[in-house]
Amino acid sequence: MADTSDTDVTAAWDRLTALPRPSLKDLFADAGRVAAMTTTLDLPGGSIRFDWSKTHLSPDHVAAFEALAAAAGFAQRRAALLAGERINVTEDRPVGHMAQRGQGDAAMVEEASALHARMRGLVAAIRGGTFGTVRHLIHIGIGGSALGPKLALDALARPDQADPDAGPAIAVEVVANIDGQALEEAFARCDPAATMIAVASKTFTTTETMTNAASALDWLKANGVADPYGRAVALTAAPDKAVEWGIDETRVLPFSESVGGRYSLWSSIGFPIALACGWDDFAEMLDGAAAMDRHFIEEDGAANVALRAAFADLYYTHLVGCQTRACFAYDERLRLLPSYLQQLEMESNGKRATLDGKPVTQPTAPITWGGVGTDAQHAVFQLLHQGTAVVPVDFIAAIIPGDTLDPVHHRNLLANCFGQGAALMAGKANADPARAYPGDRPSATMLCEDINPATLGALIAFHEHRTFANGVILGINSFDQFGVELGKEIAKSIGQGGGHFDTSTTALMKAAGIA
Ligand code: F6P
Repeated sequence: MADTSDTDVTAAWDRLTALPRPSLKDLFADAGRVAAMTTTLDLPGGSIRFDWSKTHLSPDHVAAFEALAAAAGFAQRRAALLAGERINVTEDRPVGHMAQRGQGDAAMVEEASALHARMRGLVAAIRGGTFGTVRHLIHIGIGGSALGPKLALDALARPDQADPDAGPAIAVEVVANIDGQALEEAFARCDPAATMIAVASKTFTTTETMTNAASALDWLKANGVADPYGRAVALTAAPDKAVEWGIDETRVLPFSESVGGRYSLWSSIGFPIALACGWDDFAEMLDGAAAMDRHFIEEDGAANVALRAAFADLYYTHLVGCQTRACFAYDERLRLLPSYLQQLEMESNGKRATLDGKPVTQPTAPITWGGVGTDAQHAVFQLLHQGTAVVPVDFIAAIIPGDTLDPVHHRNLLANCFGQGAALMAGKANADPARAYPGDRPSATMLCEDINPATLGALIAFHEHRTFANGVILGINSFDQFGVELGKEIAKSIGQGGGHFDTSTTALMKAAGIA
């Protein structure tokens, strides 16, 4: 475990709490503000500019947060992560998502690379016609086994606007919900004779996934596919269970137990990305993430963009009392990023116990929410500008447009993105309170040169590292998720029609006819 001292951490927080809190206007009086708080990283697919200048972190805050990170043992915990130490203490596991990108412990990297080679072989076989004509993949998984592939496919597997016929030859339907409507909608878009099924589950026990997988095979059978199991691929850290379930070992793509569900799109859970977009794109995503990993490993203090972002996150939750943070993607390709980040951040850091197993005494993760610009401006931005809750906002945009229409579209998109950040900061006085904007509201902007596999990989890795940095400073384990278990257990009892519940729940069961 990291060499930390509770006393040092408390003293560092006390120093932070005692610091004066400047307004953004005060901070921008320094002509060097933007340069000091902006870092542009040159990455394989193009640069990403991280502008944290419109946050309230003063130079004194940055220095005090750096001292806090040191007191919390950040450098040691990062080294332990990379060395493959069992930093997921409650589950007694190392944390292996960076190994998928070639970083850290040699044995873990070697295992990941061998499993990638196996996955690449199956992708090549399917794309090469070994399984006949395959035009659809129904990817069945939930949580981390769905959100990463869904985000990446939505961002990258888009029809080529210049050549609409050159889109991905294999269309992927990602189905998560146990509500059968989700699966039926997917069926309606697929030709059973040209469909394969990917069953994505780290544990290979998740009720939603196993129920949907069984129904998908039934659908194939009912529609004339003689050997439905022969059309199924398993993506899992429990290969024995997949084989036992009926999938031939040659189509089981394992990944390591050390890879957490919400960190798993880099492993065989990324199979649908590689299948639809091609292996090269998947490899570029890994490369982009690896470039971000190197930055995260090599830089210290606020020069490390993930750590700087974590400092701002903690400033707002701890010093201002913000209970939420928002992320708005000003790019349709990233429209699923907010929901991906919800799992990443809230499942990782929505905790109430410290690494030492004591109750936490400070707030942990805020609620992550967000949407797409400019849609969200006409729906929820009222609260950001004039509501009583202060919400730190991240804006994400790309310089190169994803569309081929009149450039007026993209110019206006960017103008709105930058305009919102400027308006939140500047505010506007008015004698009528209903028309006055308080201003001094924080935002950060990530401006990507382009959205492509590598920059998407880097953006996701940045958020993983930001989440880790927050968790280290909070002194919690970001890699377990016991909070989801109780609801699953109770749902299981209710589903089986048994158990004793509160009177409200019992009445609901009776009303729905499932008592
Ligand atoms: O219930 C939460 C969770 O365990 C997530 O952490 C995970 O991503 C998801 O369920 C799916 O789990 P699995 O991949 O094992 O089916």
